Amino acid sequence: MNDYYIEQIYKMNAGKNKKARINTFGCQMNAHDSEKLCAMLIAMAYEITESNDADLVLFNTCCVRENPEDKLFGNLGYFKNKKENNPDLKIILCGCMMQQNHIIEKIRHSYKFVDVVFGTFNFHKFPQLLFNNMITNSQIIDIWNEPKDYQETFSPQRKYFFKASVNVIYGCNNFCTYCIVPYVRGRERSRKSQDILDEIKFLVDDGVKEIMLLGQNVNSYGLDCGDNFPSLLRKINEIKNLERIRFMTSHPKDLSDDLIFAMRDCEKVCHHLHLPVQSGSNRILKLMNRKYTREKYFELIEKLRANIPDISLTTDIIVGFPNESEDDFANTIDLVKQVEFDGAFTFIYSKREGTPAARMLNQIPAEIIKTRFANLLEILNSIIAEKNKKYFGQTQKILVEEYDNGKLTGRNDKNVLVHFYGEKNLIGKFVDVKINDCKPFYLIGEKLGG
Ligand code: 5AD
Ligand code: SF4
Repeated sequence: MNDYYIEQIYKMNAGKNKKARINTFGCQMNAHDSEKLCAMLIAMAYEITESNDADLVLFNTCCVRENPEDKLFGNLGYFKNKKENNPDLKIILCGCMMQQNHIIEKIRHSYKFVDVVFGTFNFHKFPQLLFNNMITNSQIIDIWNEPKDYQETFSPQRKYFFKASVNVIYGCNNFCTYCIVPYVRGRERSRKSQDILDEIKFLVDDGVKEIMLLGQNVNSYGLDCGDNFPSLLRKINEIKNLERIRFMTSHPKDLSDDLIFAMRDCEKVCHHLHLPVQSGSNRILKLMNRKYTREKYFELIEKLRANIPDISLTTDIIVGFPNESEDDFANTIDLVKQVEFDGAFTFIYSKREGTPAARMLNQIPAEIIKTRFANLLEILNSIIAEKNKKYFGQTQKILVEEYDNGKLTGRNDKNVLVHFYGEKNLIGKFVDVKINDCKPFYLIGEKLGG
């Protein structure tokens, strides 16, 4: 059905040199959805541009924290002016933020110039909705409250020909009390393992060497269909010519021994685990509904390091969750020091309408959060910089991503950025690089073998 609308729009656009700009906010899931929307736009005869002087502007939104919301409405003001000069400009909004009623009401009443709005469960309908807008010239808003007939039928437009993301599970059942994701992405739905394997084989035949398996919580993959993530990893590891497997995100409560053993045994699975801890205080973890304690987290870290000694561990931490006392925060600092993470994303707690935490008493004043946040960042940064020093003198296998003026940039299996001199034709290839300078957040090296 999509093909019909794509063809109609293609015919309308053909020869008109139409340009589309995609703005993506938020996580890797959103970035991957944007790759699919990008493929649809190209099929509808749009050339993708980075410029604001486009004929179509699409915002794939995020609502996990407040900031992207403010940014979106700021941006819309700018494009409203543009549309006054160019009434043919199409403005499209989609993604997580659109699953929230108050946002849709705001768009209906105050952003009437927006052309098409859709959500996370029906983004595959984009061509049809755009077609309806083009024919009727009226605002089209279509939001579903649950997934219906979604099937992965088109190939995403990849940013890099040699690496790709693959969804393994959609949605989340965890309902951490601060998080909006379960409300806007629905319950967990695992893809069939055969579909995932077929997609990866197709990608590998198309030149992909590294894949990133995506899910809000990949560890619960298969629980809804009698499968499990470690066994999926072992099957993917067998795919010929695939070289690296990454995955994110993992929830500590479901990190099984089997997964640790699969990571240890599967030579293609990178020795990097993103394991969000969120807080080091048992009291706060309970209020967050995380379903593990700091002791359990330490136990996991120990088990991971015992089985995979060179594993790189990264995390997410929220500062200023309601009721977080100085003691609770000190426990987070203590955990960070004990674990010695290799990397971390730190977030200031953001009150999300509709979540249980938003209704909690004792929200923490911004000034206190700011001080704690700065304190945490300083400690984390010095730990991360120190840990990065271990690469000095080592030879690392780097998958080259970018070339700029004689300089190449790539990543090792731990996902650390490495810069070195080399030729452009090495993009997409693995190169051995000897590390001779370790900066806090990246490495500098020298290509081996001439
Ligand atoms: N406020 C701050 N950070 C949040 N995250 C999720 N929801 C919120 C919120 N309301 C963070 C968590 C999660 C990451 C993707 O975003 O740390 O792991
Ligand atoms: Fe949000 Fe928690 Fe689900 Fe992650 S596991 S998406 S933080 S509810």
